[in-house]
Amino acid sequence: MTAFKRFTFAGTGLFIALAIAAPAQAAERDAANYVGMKICGMCHKKEGGGNQLGKWQASPHAKAFELLGTAEAKAAGAKVGVTDPQKSGKCLKCHSTAYHFTETVQTDKFTPEEGVGCESCHGPGKNYKSRSVMQNRQEAIAGGMIYPATKSCAQCHNESSPTWKADRYTTKDGKKVGFDAEQAYEKIKHPVPAKK
Ligand code: HEC
Ligand code: HEC
Ligand code: HEC
Ligand code: HEC
Repeated sequence: MTAFKRFTFAGTGLFIALAIAAPAQAAERDAANYVGMKICGMCHKKEGGGNQLGKWQASPHAKAFELLGTAEAKAAGAKVGVTDPQKSGKCLKCHSTAYHFTETVQTDKFTPEEGVGCESCHGPGKNYKSRSVMQNRQEAIAGGMIYPATKSCAQCHNESSPTWKADRYTTKDGKKVGFDAEQAYEKIKHPVPAKK
């Protein structure tokens, strides 16, 4: 009898532990949880707060879809059998958030034209986008916010990109590399200004 009870108790404990761990894992990178940039931008466009939306709009990621319409993109596509890069999952998997690192569109909340949006780096926002959650980093991470977001870069900045240049970046010790997340973030950074 006692043994049975103890077993039941241990079983319940395990169940609770799994129930707590599961939502965080499910939230991170679940395509069903995308909300789109318009939602993030509502709270992240004030100059005083760092205007992340404006900084993103001025960054190459905002033009990632447009870029696929250029002659340069058509030439890169032709080499791998793609005739229209703006319609091919082979390109949009990295040039848009809507394809979510796959070769087919994964959300109807926004279109591929949005390019590489906030959630490609920070994770789909449904479970962390409320103000109270956002203000608490641990809660935001539990809701699927990816931090540090530099973990996300290599999902696209890698050698499977058809225009990959293995010597695009030079590290501090003089080594040539195709990508360096720290240096690359300097080019697109959008910090919240420190409070005085
Ligand atoms: C309801 C308003 C609101 C919405 C919507 C919102 N945020 Fe935030 N976010 C905040 C606030 C407030 C903070 C705290 C920092 C600050 O004061 O700017 C924050 C902080 C952050 C941080 C920094 C977290 C940290 O721990 O340093 C990131 C990254 C972020 N938001 C990304 C996003 C993304 C991506 C979206 C869309 C999926 C989003 N936010 C939607 C209000 C919001
Ligand atoms: C694995 C992710 C990935 C895939 C797949 C991908 N791209 Fe890109 N693309 C990138 C990244 C990242 C950059 C930014 C430059 C860099 O850091 O490599 C880029 C840049 C480019 C550029 C600008 C050239 C340059 O050197 O900056 C063109 C043109 C381009 N891509 C076309 C395409 C076409 C066409 C396809 C489909 C046939 C495609 N890409 C598929 C990730 C990808
Ligand atoms: C290309 C990837 C990328 C995109 C796209 C991106 N971010 Fe970030 N963001 C980062 C990185 C990297 C940091 C530095 C902190 C970290 O590592 O998470 C950061 C930091 C932030 C911070 C916190 C700054 C601080 O000082 O604490 C906020 C807020 C934020 N991003 C909001 C946004 C919003 C809103 C968008 C879309 C309009 C967006 N980001 C788009 C990669 C990205
Ligand atoms: C979903 C795919 C994706 C992710 C994730 C991503 N990028 Fe990019 N990035 C691209 C594409 C596509 C381009 C080319 C866009 C253009 O030139 O218009 C690009 C271009 C860039 C460029 C300009 C080219 C260069 O190397 O100077 C920088 C800088 C950059 N990304 C930094 C980052 C950083 C830092 C992160 C992670 C915090 C990141 N990216 C995450 C797809 C991505």
